[in-house]
Amino acid sequence: MNYNSIFLFFFLMTGAGIASANGTDSVNLEMPPSSLEQWYKPVSKRHVWLHTMFALRREMQAIGEYAEQGGWAKMDKWISRLEKDYGKIAEMVPEWEDEIKLRLLPELKMFAEKKDAYRTAKTLKMIQRTCDDCHHSYQPIVTAIYRSPHYGDIKVKNLNGDEQSYEDSMEALSTSVNQILIALDDGYKSKALAARQNLTDQLQNLGGSCRHCHEKERYPHERILGKATKQKLDALESRISEGRVKESQQLTGEIAVSVCARCHNIHRIVNDLRNALVPDR
Ligand code: HEC
Ligand code: HEC
Ligand code: HEC
Repeated sequence: MNYNSIFLFFFLMTGAGIASANGTDSVNLEMPPSSLEQWYKPVSKRHVWLHTMFALRREMQAIGEYAEQGGWAKMDKWISRLEKDYGKIAEMVPEWEDEIKLRLLPELKMFAEKKDAYRTAKTLKMIQRTCDDCHHSYQPIVTAIYRSPHYGDIKVKNLNGDEQSYEDSMEALSTSVNQILIALDDGYKSKALAARQNLTDQLQNLGGSCRHCHEKERYPHERILGKATKQKLDALESRISEGRVKESQQLTGEIAVSVCARCHNIHRIVNDLRNALVPDR
C-alpha cells in the first residue's frame, strides 16, 4: 500500500464525514430559491433548468462565432432563440429576475441587423457577464442539491437474504473489512476466512443495487465489482489459507481502495456534501 492508499484506507475506515464550520472560518453559501426545485427531477420529468443552460451556451456560441465570421444570415435565428431561453430564466425562477438583463437582447438584435460585429460582440460579452455572475453565486450549490443521486430509497439484501437500508449495508461492509484485519492481526485464520466470505457475499448483494441508477449499463458494475475485484477476493482467500498474513493485509487494503474508496469517490463525496448543505433532503 502506498501512502495515498493508506490515507484513503484510513479515511474510509474512520468514516470521516464533513464537519460543518460554525467557527470564524465559516463559508457563506447562498441558497438558491426553492422555486428552482420544480425544474429538476423528480418534480420535473427532466432537468429542465440544466437543459435550458446547455441551450443558452450553444446560442451564445453560435452568435459569437457568426459575429466573428460575418455569418449574418443565421444570426436572427440564434438571437431569437437566445432571447426566448434567456427570458425563461426569470419565468422559471422569478426571484432571479434581477440576475438577468433582458434589455440587452433588443440591443443585440439591433447591432446584428446593422452587421456591426464589434458592438454585437460587446453586447454578447455583457450578457455573458450576467451568466458568470449568477454561476459564481449559485452553480456549485445547485449542482450539489439537485443533481446528486439519492441512496435513501435503495434496499440491499443482507447475508440472511433480508432487505436492509443502504447505510446498514455499508456499515456491514465496513465491519467485515475490519473483521478480516483484526483476525489477521491476531492470527485467527478461520475467522479471517469467514469474514472474507461475508465481504464477498455482501459485495455481491450490493452489486444487485447498481441497476437502480445504471439500468442497462454493464460497465459501471464491471469497473468496481467486476473480474479484477473477483480475482482479488479469490487471491485473498488463498493468501489467508496459506497463512501469508502480511500479503493478506496488503490485499485487503488494496480491495478497500479499488472497491470501497473508488466507489466512494464517485458516489459518496457529492452525496455527503449535499447532506451537509441541506440535511433535510
Ligand atoms: C456504490 C458504490 C459503493 C461501494 C462499492 C461501497 N460504498 Fe460505502 N458508501 C457508498 C455511498 C453512496 C455511501 C453514502 C450512503 C448514504 O449516506 O446514504 C456510502 C457510505 C459508506 C459508509 C458510511 C455509512 C454511514 O453510516 O453513513 C461506510 C462506513 C462505507 N460506505 C463503507 C464501505 C466499505 C468498507 C466498502 C467496501 C468494502 C464500501 N463502502 C463500498 C457507496 C459505496
Ligand atoms: C440566474 C442564474 C443564472 C444565470 C443568469 C445563468 N445561469 Fe447558467 N447555470 C445556473 C445554475 C444554477 C447552474 C447549475 C445547474 C446545474 O448544475 O444543474 C447553471 C449551469 C449552467 C451550465 C452548465 C454547466 C455544466 O456543464 O454543468 C451552462 C452551460 C450554463 N449554465 C450556461 C449559461 C449561460 C450561457 C448563461 C447566460 C446566457 C447562463 N447560464 C445564465 C444559473 C444561471
Ligand atoms: C443512486 C444512484 C446510483 C447508484 C445506486 C449507483 N450509482 Fe454509479 N453513478 C451514479 C451517477 C449519477 C454517476 C455519474 C454519472 C454516470 O456516469 O452515469 C455514477 C457513476 C458511476 C461510475 C463512473 C462512470 C463509469 O461508468 O465508469 C461507476 C464506475 C459507477 N457509477 C459504479 C457503480 C456501482 C458499481 C454501483 C453499485 C454498487 C453504482 N454505481 C450504483 C449513480 C449511482
